Amino acid sequence: MTTYNIGVLGGDGIGPEVAEQGLKALRAVMADEGFDCNLVEYPYSGEYYLKTKELVPERVIEEWRGLDAVFLGAIGHPDVEPGLVERSVILGLRFGLDLYINLRPIKLYAEHLCPLKGVKPEDIDFTVIRENTEGLYSQIGGILKKGTPDEVATVTGVYTRNGVERAIRYGYELARQRAAELGKPPRLTLVDKANAIRPHDIWTRAFAEVGQEYPDVEQDHAYVDACTMWMVKNPDWFEVVVTTNLFGDIITDLGAMLQGGMGIAASGNIHPGKTSMFEPIHGSAPKYAGKNVACPLGAISAASMMLDFLGEKKAAQRIENAIAYLLSSGKIPSADARSGLSTTQIGDMVVERMAELGE
Ligand code: IPM
Ligand code: MG
Repeated sequence: MTTYNIGVLGGDGIGPEVAEQGLKALRAVMADEGFDCNLVEYPYSGEYYLKTKELVPERVIEEWRGLDAVFLGAIGHPDVEPGLVERSVILGLRFGLDLYINLRPIKLYAEHLCPLKGVKPEDIDFTVIRENTEGLYSQIGGILKKGTPDEVATVTGVYTRNGVERAIRYGYELARQRAAELGKPPRLTLVDKANAIRPHDIWTRAFAEVGQEYPDVEQDHAYVDACTMWMVKNPDWFEVVVTTNLFGDIITDLGAMLQGGMGIAASGNIHPGKTSMFEPIHGSAPKYAGKNVACPLGAISAASMMLDFLGEKKAAQRIENAIAYLLSSGKIPSADARSGLSTTQIGDMVVERMAELGE
């Protein structure tokens, strides 16, 4: 039997509660599908930092490289300097493991979940590929003469040909694969701001050049401001989107709202063929922590993405089918803390539905 070594970081706030429901779904499919998981827990979080002053040490990053995957709940604590622990854990994983793809599927399971009028599930089904190791997240920059009237703050957007090209190539491949699965013509949309930020032209050129190897994939383009407009006006136009780190961060929160809220959105931080990390895209939501009210569907869906990545396609699909059924049937009426269902109840419903659906 295959055994996967999976690092688990529950993290802060609602993180541990929702992660536990993701693991519950994972355990439920494991036995049926004939694989096993060895879960290795890690304590790193804002909470842990307040107690120990410890961030993620380099040796732990090294240890993570030896796992099959990492599963993360949420990081962020109101009493810790903003971003300190997020940069250590989340960016530590993304940069330390070179997880250059941040894959964020956006899929509407039921019309009533979407805040837009008259938009149907078939209108919202696309995936955003966010470049995950460069751009304005490069951590290059700083502050000079802090707190004085002459203060200067700089940050450098880094776009390497390699970094841009590997994200774009992944986009073309995914566009092809999705088109084959869905029976639609393949389309890839590049989102940048090459009109105002001229160095984004590196994206424009790489997109066109790599695109020559994919003549079957239609090339589409939107500046990021227009992209937010189109995502609201004509979300059905999008199939696969590839974009920079910061723009991907922003447009996927918009995408999450289109599919019913932060409670449902999941993501994979991926380096194909190497240890990758899976997490819901929401944060630690301190106000809901410990109350058993947070929606765990983002974490459960992240567990499904992790299984898909590990090659356990059937197990992944079973979790996905259960989520789709529970939301489209209205049995789970909303993907937020006001669904009237507790975190653990939703986890149980997913497990029960998987048992009903069988193999
Ligand atoms: C996300 C988050 C992170 C990001 C934060 C927590 C550093 O917003 O995964 O989208 O900006 O990437
Ligand atoms: Mg974000």
